[in-house]
This record gives sequence, C-alpha cells and structure tokens, in this order.
Amino acid sequence: MGSGLVLMHLTQFFVGLLLFSTDVRAGPLGGMVSIPLEKAGRELSPGLPSAVLHQQYANRGIRRLAHMKGQPRPSDLDLWGKISNRLSSLPKDSEFMRKLEIAALSDPNSLSSRKFRHLARATNGDDSSALPSPASYPNSLGLEIQSNDYGYYAKLMIGTPPKEFSLLMDSGSADFWVGGEGCKGDNGQDCGNHTYLGLNSSTTLKDLHDPWAINYNTGEVSGSMIQDDISIAGLRLSGFKFGVAFKESPEFTGNEILFDGLAGLAKSAVSRQRTMTLVEALHKSGVIKNSIVSFKIPRLADHKNDGEMALGGMNPAKYDSKSVVTVKNLNRIGFWETPINEVKIDGKPSGWTNRTGVLDTGTALLMAPREDVDAIHSRIPGAKQASGSWTVPCATKTSLALTIGNIDFSIDPRDLAFIPADDSGKDCWSGIGVGTVGPFHLPTTWLLGNTFLKNVYSSMNADEGKDEISFAKLR
Ligand SMILES: *[C@@H]1O[C@H](CO)[C@@H](O)[C@H](O)[C@H]1NC(C)=O
Ligand SMILES: *[C@@H]1O[C@H](CO)[C@@H](O)[C@H](O)[C@H]1NC(C)=O
Ligand SMILES: *[C@@H]1O[C@H](CO)[C@@H](O)[C@H](O)[C@H]1NC(C)=O
Repeated sequence: MGSGLVLMHLTQFFVGLLLFSTDVRAGPLGGMVSIPLEKAGRELSPGLPSAVLHQQYANRGIRRLAHMKGQPRPSDLDLWGKISNRLSSLPKDSEFMRKLEIAALSDPNSLSSRKFRHLARATNGDDSSALPSPASYPNSLGLEIQSNDYGYYAKLMIGTPPKEFSLLMDSGSADFWVGGEGCKGDNGQDCGNHTYLGLNSSTTLKDLHDPWAINYNTGEVSGSMIQDDISIAGLRLSGFKFGVAFKESPEFTGNEILFDGLAGLAKSAVSRQRTMTLVEALHKSGVIKNSIVSFKIPRLADHKNDGEMALGGMNPAKYDSKSVVTVKNLNRIGFWETPINEVKIDGKPSGWTNRTGVLDTGTALLMAPREDVDAIHSRIPGAKQASGSWTVPCATKTSLALTIGNIDFSIDPRDLAFIPADDSGKDCWSGIGVGTVGPFHLPTTWLLGNTFLKNVYSSMNADEGKDEISFAKLR
C-alpha cells in the first residue's frame, strides 16, 4: 500500500514531466490535475425562431434549477406553455408559422399538428386544458420543450487496455456512467457511434451485479454497477465504482451526441448510484490532494479553446490569485450554491443583498425570478420586453456584476447579448432568462449558468468539513 502510493506519486511525477507541454497537463506532485474542457452542445434545428430557442434554453434552466433546489419537476405542460407563448408572439405570416400550419394540415394526428391546434386555441384565448401530451418531440420542426445544450465534456481513459471516453461534466448530478457493450436505445437500436465499456474490452472490469437506473428528460438510463480503472492525464485510479448503461434514452444515443457518458460533479449526497463521485474517489485514494473540482469555462467567441477542468485544486495558471474569495456552500441537498452579496449594474448597486446562485455548467443562461430580471433590464439602455422575456442591444456595453465576498465579478457584455433576436443583428435575446421554481417561487434564488460562469474561475470543495466554493477573476 505504502510503496504503491510512492510508486503512484513517482509515476505521477514522470507523467507530469512528460505531458507538461502538451495539451494534457498534470501537476507533478501538486496533487492537482487538469484536462481540457470542450463544448458538448450541438446546434439545434436551424430555422427555429430565436424566441423559441431562447425559451428552450430557459426551460432547460428551469428544469435543472428545480432539481438542484429539491423542488417539484416543472411539467412538460408548463414548459410547453412557455414555448407556446413565445410562438404566439411571432407574426402569423412568418415562415416558421406557415411551416407549422403546413405540418399540421398534412398530418392531422402528428404532434406538430396537435401543438399547432393548441397554439391556435391559446392565441384565441381559449383555455389550454386540452394540451397535447408531449411525451416526446421528435419532429422536423425542432419544437422541443427544452434545449439540448448539455454543457461541456472532457476526456478520460477507462479500462485495460485504456480506451478514451468523452464524458459530460455535469454539476447537476453525482452519478458516473458510460455506455456498456451491447447498449440498446429505446427502440432496441444500438446506442450510437460511441465508445463502450464491458468485459469484452476491459480485462480489469469487475461486474458488481448491482443494477442502477436514472431518469432523464426523455426516459430512463439503466445498467449495472461495475468497478474498473480510470486514468486522467496519466494519473490512475484503480477499482473505481461506477455504472455502465445497457439502456439509454434518446437524448444520449444519437451519433451527433459528442459524449459517451456522464461524470457527476455534485456531492455524493445526491448520488443515485449511492457511491462516491469521481472527485471524492480520486481524493480518498490519494490521487488528488483535495476533493476539489475547478472550472475555466471556455467562451466560443474567444476562439481560444482554453476551457479546462482541474481536479484536486485550482490551477494557478488560470486565475488571478489576488482576487480569490471563498464562501460557504449554501445548497442543503448536495449541489453548489453561492451567496450573492450585491448586484451592480454599470457600477451602481441594486440594493439586493440576499440573493443566492446555484452554479450550473449545464445551463447556458443566467436565470432569475421575473421581478429581478425585469428590474435589471429596466436599467439596461435599449433593453426591450417581448412576450415576457427581454432583448438587449447586441452591442450593449452595459456591465452587470455580481458581488461575491468583497469582489465584483462582472459579466462580459457579449455574454449579456445571448443570441440575435432577428436578422438585423440589432437586438439580441438576453443572457438572463426568467425562471423560478416550486410552489413558493424561491424569490431570491438565481441559477448561475454559463452567462456568468464564463466570466470567473470557479472551484467547488467537498473536503471533509469544508463544503466551500471559491471564485477568482480569470487571468
Ligand atoms: C463479447 O464478445 C463475444 C465474442 O466475440 C460476443 O459473442 C458477444 O456478443 C460480445 N458481447 C457484447 C456485449 O458485445
Ligand atoms: C463515429 O465517430 C468517429 C470518431 O468519433 C468519427 O470519426 C466518425 O466519423 C463517426 N461516424 C459516424 C457515422 O458518425
Ligand atoms: C431579501 O431582499 C428583498 C429586497 O430585495 C426583501 O424584500 C426581502 O424581504 C429580503 N428577504 C430576506 C429573507 O431577507
């Protein structure tokens, strides 16, 4: 055991030396390892009106916020109602509305037809009790209920001989799974052009004969718990306990899905597989110094490809050490939530001193309750409200800053201008969406998605007795 550990540290040292200048970076003996983080999103249905796309992003945020605050899951009906509301604000003679009508006429029983009839009813002010049951939304118009912009993935090696897997790094769960050999989709088809793990491909894999299942948006993913070896940037973790999936829901099986499984980065308190997270296991076995995961979220507009996830600590190369603040994690369930001490718009305080923000690398937008979103935008020059949501000038220079500890973390105005609202390029849908969850509408809870997270170095610490979050300005 002792000599194994020394050997491991030596290996870590030499691997660190070997790989230091390539794009896989290992900190020699520093107890920290970092790997590139890449965008896992795919472009959704070109041709979809941007108002709908914006709502799909907001709907994803609403779902995830409910999950991470232990609130009832917003129903498909609720979320479809929000999409429908955005659709009803489009000109009736717009190309998309014409397409929707044609789809409805050509197949009166199709989902888009039922949606169209509902929409017609809703816009005529009838009650919407006869909504379709939107079990799934596979139609050519791309009218899905929420966006499939998953966030970011990173690559790890699993098994013997080691194979490379791309894993979605998910702050909204604490489970770890990859597709298993022989994996089947909902209709019995295979699980797509992905890398799989199983007894046929890994000699170190041990089947624990313990089933697991997790419900995602489009259905259940289920399989068996196993143990196998993982290596990250050359550091090896033996006998890690995780899941292989024999059945995957449609959101994971497509050839266009860029990842082969998920790595949950919340705390094991919310593990549905009832086991340690990757970060906790790496820490427990001494591979990393602290049970810490840190993020530098890349901004595509920067064209730098500089996203990075560090395990075990914070990577000094990525943040300004004079700007570090550390706060207590306020989330009682096992996700990550920071106090927000003040919100400033162009340097002027709003007087809001009791907001909190749930951190989510799996949501694009920053989400807040309507009162806050309205108050913020009413102070952004040129911002306009449209069907309940806001646009800002695409060239806005307004700076919005969240004060955490005593540091102001400002959001780059480019991130406030989320996507163009029309072809003119003048107005953009805002990076701040409207959303609140639960019967009591948590009036002070925000969701800090990538609109905010791209602007900070963030780091979550699950060490025994710690439960802290640190933020720092990016270098
Ligand atoms: C494993 O390999 C055997 C022999 O080639 C094959 O019959 C079996 O279908 C494979 N199992 C899976 C799950 O791919
Ligand atoms: C399958 O994935 C590989 C590597 O990720 C890629 O090179 C190949 O083009 C993909 N094939 C299909 C049919 O998508
Ligand atoms: C939070 O601040 C708002 C003002 O922004 C105030 O109305 C509310 O009472 C405060 N809530 C608590 C729990 O302090």
